[in-house]
Amino acid sequence: MLVKPSIRQFSSCLQIMRRIAPDELKSKTKSTSSQHWLSRQLSDPYVEKAKLMNYRCRSAFKLIEIDDKFKILHPGHTVVDCGASPGSWTQVAVKRVNSDGMKTDLCKGTVLAIDRQQIYPIEGATIFGNMDFTALESQKKIVGFLNGKKADVIVSDMASNATGVRSLDNENIIKLCYIVLRFAVQTSKKDASLLMKLWQCGETKQLENDIARFYNNVKIVKPNSSRSDSTEIFLLGRNFKGLKNN
Ligand SMILES: C[S@@+](CC[C@H](N)C(=O)[O-])C[C@H]1O[C@@H](n2cnc3c(N)ncnc32)[C@H](O)[C@@H]1O
Repeated sequence: MLVKPSIRQFSSCLQIMRRIAPDELKSKTKSTSSQHWLSRQLSDPYVEKAKLMNYRCRSAFKLIEIDDKFKILHPGHTVVDCGASPGSWTQVAVKRVNSDGMKTDLCKGTVLAIDRQQIYPIEGATIFGNMDFTALESQKKIVGFLNGKKADVIVSDMASNATGVRSLDNENIIKLCYIVLRFAVQTSKKDASLLMKLWQCGETKQLENDIARFYNNVKIVKPNSSRSDSTEIFLLGRNFKGLKNN
């Protein structure tokens, strides 16, 4: 595999920084939280791996791990990626459903990436940036783009900005999850999959049960690349039961 010089430079830069971190940084910075962030980034193998593999962020490996295990993405699939910025899940989805058409012998899929922030273009994906997924208007635009086609996979890595109050953050992400679930039920084809992020909390079981009303197989997943000190988990619903008109 060819390694671009810029990546090599980045990699050696990381190695040098790793040698001096964190002790020397301690004396040079006043902010312990940014120091903690930097040390964590420097010691995180997924951060470097993401750079080497040209993924926009380390989150790529969460979807890779989940898909390697549960095989939810296939060439030709239509995927809706909610909360897609900066775009590493979209990058993974594009390759796995072949929406960039690079594998000419396989079906070409479709990937739609939505985020309320800007998303820089990704070949093979249709980007809806600066769009709040929770707004009905946005969801109508997505349905309009799909033009009668139903989704095979809906993924959501969305999280509202942390408030610092855990109960409020939990409440916010659970609300997002229910909005995604409702959208998925309306726009998915039979046997589709749904993957969404949430923080492990008191409402997890209820959400899991509610997903199970529509999906035959529901699992809580915690990939190795999801930091162990984070309450982040993913709920995976497979085999959408379908609505009567599917
Ligand atoms: C953890 S990041 C996603 C990372 C992405 N999966 C990747 O691999 O690059 C969460 C994203 O959710 C987005 N988000 C949160 N609430 C949203 C909303 N209501 N509508 C659209 N995007 C939202 C944020 O802007 C943020 O970019």
